[in-house]
Amino acid sequence: MVDLVITGGSGQVATALAALAPIEGLGVRLLGRPGFDFDRAETLAAVFDPSPAMVVNAAAYTAVDRAETEPEAAGRANTTGPALLAGLCRAHGCKFLHISTDYVFDGAKPAPYRESDAANPTGVYGRSKYEGEVAVMAANPDAIILRTAWVYAATGRNFLLTMLSAARRLPTLRVVADQVGCPTLAADLAAAILRIATAPDWRPGIYHAAGTGQTSWHGFATAILRRAASHGLPCPEILPIATADWPTPAKRPENSRLDCALLESTFGLVLPSWTEGVIRTVDAVMTASSTRPRT
Ligand SMILES: NC(=O)c1ccc[n+]([C@@H]2O[C@H](COP(=O)([O-])OP(=O)(O)OC[C@H]3O[C@@H](n4cnc5c(N)ncnc54)[C@H](OP(=O)(O)O)[C@@H]3O)[C@@H](O)[C@H]2O)c1
Repeated sequence: MVDLVITGGSGQVATALAALAPIEGLGVRLLGRPGFDFDRAETLAAVFDPSPAMVVNAAAYTAVDRAETEPEAAGRANTTGPALLAGLCRAHGCKFLHISTDYVFDGAKPAPYRESDAANPTGVYGRSKYEGEVAVMAANPDAIILRTAWVYAATGRNFLLTMLSAARRLPTLRVVADQVGCPTLAADLAAAILRIATAPDWRPGIYHAAGTGQTSWHGFATAILRRAASHGLPCPEILPIATADWPTPAKRPENSRLDCALLESTFGLVLPSWTEGVIRTVDAVMTASSTRPRT
């Protein structure tokens, strides 16, 4: 029997989880589009053929700005689809772990957010994810939801790779310095998910699970590019700017730091520091690019 089905095939978290789970001795089936697609509800049956012990839903509509003009697509992938999957897992007797976001909060709190703080998303993406949390828990009260933040990896679409690419082209980067959060390495979140999956007790509920520490996008960029400079990448000037100087379609929370104490007290889990994750990831990316054959 397959132990674990992971949705979100090509995504950062799904890819990291699918790489790690076999090392931990778990059988894995990774499902992605077109075979598994929340836009085509009939494809959800693939998850249960055969039925796994557990489903991790890492599929999501994650284009925060584009969601402002595509609320229906965001709603299908982040709200109605996950709720349907959660209900099917309940019917099949599979454990269900769903991933949500720090962007369920409005950012007004002057301290890290706890699970008990009221959600108040500022954009379509955050709203679709928050409504997804509510709908998942209604369909399957035994679900676990992990809210994470500022996810990055050595592959995929993320801020770390965007900064490395920009540094190769531009002498000066302008980076927002008045939004703070907790960068999270996809592999660190994947390791935490596996610890939860294999824990002796299943403890349903919502938990915050993000990299330890906090920074701004400017601080994140600086850490990435300083490390890349140690591999010989020219370090551009990194100018701190205000959110107002970088207008985006979606309004983002000023503060989306997550307090992860409940994850620690419940599962004994603390994710590694975001700075350590940046070092590991930049080293991996820079080493791979220096050893890649030139065409
Ligand atoms: N990335 C972040 O900074 C961040 C921050 C906080 C929370 N999260 C949450 O963490 C989870 C994993 O994020 P990630 O960074 O790994 O995302 P990602 O790299 O953007 O991957 C998302 C995956 O979902 C798939 N997907 C999109 N729409 C779908 C649909 N309608 N039906 C089925 N699959 C669909 C994508 O497929 P295609 O490649 O075909 O589009 C992709 O494989 C998500 O729940 C996200 O909301 C992410």
